[in-house]
Amino acid sequence: MDRVGIKKVAEHLKQNSDAQVIFMVGAGISTPCGIPDFRSPKTGLYSNLSRLGLPFPEAVFDIDYFEENPKPFYTLARELYPGNFKPSRFHYLMKVFEEKGRLHRVYTQNIDTLEREATISEKYLVEAHGSFASNECISCSKSYSVDRFKEKLEPVKIQHKKGEKDQIEFEYALCDKCDSLVKPSIVFFGESLPARFFDTWEKDLEWLKDKKKKNLVIVVGTSLSVYPFASLPSEVPSEVPRVLWNYEVVGDFHLNPRSSDVIFKGSSDEAAEELAMEMGWNEELRKLVGE
Ligand code: OAD
Ligand code: ZN
Repeated sequence: MDRVGIKKVAEHLKQNSDAQVIFMVGAGISTPCGIPDFRSPKTGLYSNLSRLGLPFPEAVFDIDYFEENPKPFYTLARELYPGNFKPSRFHYLMKVFEEKGRLHRVYTQNIDTLEREATISEKYLVEAHGSFASNECISCSKSYSVDRFKEKLEPVKIQHKKGEKDQIEFEYALCDKCDSLVKPSIVFFGESLPARFFDTWEKDLEWLKDKKKKNLVIVVGTSLSVYPFASLPSEVPSEVPRVLWNYEVVGDFHLNPRSSDVIFKGSSDEAAEELAMEMGWNEELRKLVGE
């Protein structure tokens, strides 16, 4: 495995001790946690959703489709619900960046809240596609805590007459006030991204333009196929090196490669392990991972 794309990042960070990093991440950083990504052939969610009977894979996150048929989303939500998974090495590496004062921001497309689970402070975090961390009724906007929503996701056991088997009946998460659907604050196709995404990126773009600091943008575990998130790397000022750690070369790294791009084709956890070693951060990383 060619690790030049990791060593170069370590050298850059060591040579420029005030340089900080903006991470832009996607589902690939959570595959080591047992959460499938979306678009990997065979293992990705979108190639395994036939059991839900969707007209097209993205329908599971489509707001119009959800209002018509919410069952596929709730089925998936029960499987993927936060609390069932632990952060990856890479998640914890981002936390080490925070502890070392080298983190500027994490833009995540993930809804699994594993960045929060890895205790990355909220001020650094931009959950571009929302998350399971808050829930709202789609009609009256009544909000529901994580625990209350989780209760609502529990399938209801219906007791039948003697001799017959109990049946698990699936109920939708319905609003206590108006009986409409309760939905986590995940950005569905057809909905706009949170204002924090646009506001923070505007500020961070200015911050990136400060030539003195030699900051970096590191893109990890994403196919860069969903906009507007996918356009972030193309907006990075040309004087800021862009780094990609991913199984494949994607998006603007493929379409408009820059001579300053730094690429490591491999797993995000391997990159985390290797970078921590190069930086002398192994102990901190191991401690967070719990080894
Ligand atoms: P994708 O599934 O589209 O892309 C994941 C990328 O990560 C692929 O390029 C994989 O090859 C790569 N990958 C997988 N595991 C990896 C690993 N351990 N190390 C390195 N690379 C790895 O996921 P996203 O780009 O995040 O929307 O998808 C973007 C959006 O599409 C999601 O936020 C989701 C979906 O519709 C919502 O949830 C609202
Ligand atoms: Zn309601």
